[in-house]
Amino acid sequence: MRIFSGIQPTGRKHLGNFIGAIEPYVHHQERGEAIYCVVDLHATTVPYEPARMRTAVYDTATILLAAGLDPERCIFFRQSDVPEHTELSWLLASVTAFGDLNRMHQFKEKAGAQRDLVSASLFTYPVLMAADVLAYRAEQVPVGDDQRQHIELMRDIAIRFNARFAPAAADGAGPLVVPEGVYREVGARIMDLQEPTRKMSTTGGTEQGTVLVLDEPKTIEKKFKRAVTDSGAEIVHDREQKPGIANLIEVYAAVRGISFDAVEAEFADARYGDFKVATAAAVVERLAPVQERYAELRADEAGLEAIFAAGAEKARAITTQTLADVRELMGVGPVR
Ligand code: TYM
Repeated sequence: MRIFSGIQPTGRKHLGNFIGAIEPYVHHQERGEAIYCVVDLHATTVPYEPARMRTAVYDTATILLAAGLDPERCIFFRQSDVPEHTELSWLLASVTAFGDLNRMHQFKEKAGAQRDLVSASLFTYPVLMAADVLAYRAEQVPVGDDQRQHIELMRDIAIRFNARFAPAAADGAGPLVVPEGVYREVGARIMDLQEPTRKMSTTGGTEQGTVLVLDEPKTIEKKFKRAVTDSGAEIVHDREQKPGIANLIEVYAAVRGISFDAVEAEFADARYGDFKVATAAAVVERLAPVQERYAELRADEAGLEAIFAAGAEKARAITTQTLADVRELMGVGPVR
């Protein structure tokens, strides 16, 4: 089983990223051949500060390592170190429908929020994301719920590529593997603590409602104490009627690794206030060892570069093969 996922570089990774993606990455290392990358090229699609890009990549990489990614047990690298991603992205653009890109919610949201230039790369972002995965012929892609549309698109791109350039291949035996999204049952969509009908996000969410992986315990406690709850007093998981409490139940269940039922039973006689305090404590406890490891690892930038270099080498052993096949099928470049 080959597994691939990517994460954008920012030191401000939040509890949604942690629960929805980072914890699953660590878990999937045990399940198969896991490949993870920090997608710095995706981060150039919106305005950013060039001087801070590398720092943001190191911050994010360190969060992943601190959470338990082990470069001995997975392939871990920086996207821009593996040039086949961008080459494949260009080639796949020829089997990507303009109309499909035009329907992407994430593009509409991000383009709508942009005061300056809306870049062409923001529009083609999902093609590069498809290339990230398809370059490895990965079968599974662990992501949060907000990436469903992008996953559907990459599946369509793979299917269309196979049909166009290898029409004789039997179903399922095409040159590109059609990947599947893998979503956590509990915690695939963590909501903003202040506006529990919006997903937690550092770009679109509220400051107080977004818990960062590197927030101080006191800050985490404060954010949970101020979390918006709902009318009534019962602690039950009902996303429609009680989005605030449902979200806290989701967080508590995910960090403790228990079911919603178990959370409801544990807090059957508790008040909202007590439950908020307990959830904050569970999150602080879960993040404490990650924060501790982060502080130990972050300073060694040469060490991080060495991890990236070794990871990119392993990654390229796979991607150069895929690109050779794709070029050949598309009639691009000399005969092999
Ligand atoms: P990024 O960096 O925005 O987010 C990283 C991961 O965190 C998940 N996530 C959430 N999960 C639960 N609740 C939330 N509130 C929440 N917010 C974010 C995201 O779903 C994601 O899994 N486009 C991707 C990066 C990417 C990628 C790829 C992913 C580039 N290439 C190839 C998979 C495969 C993104 O923006 O992630």
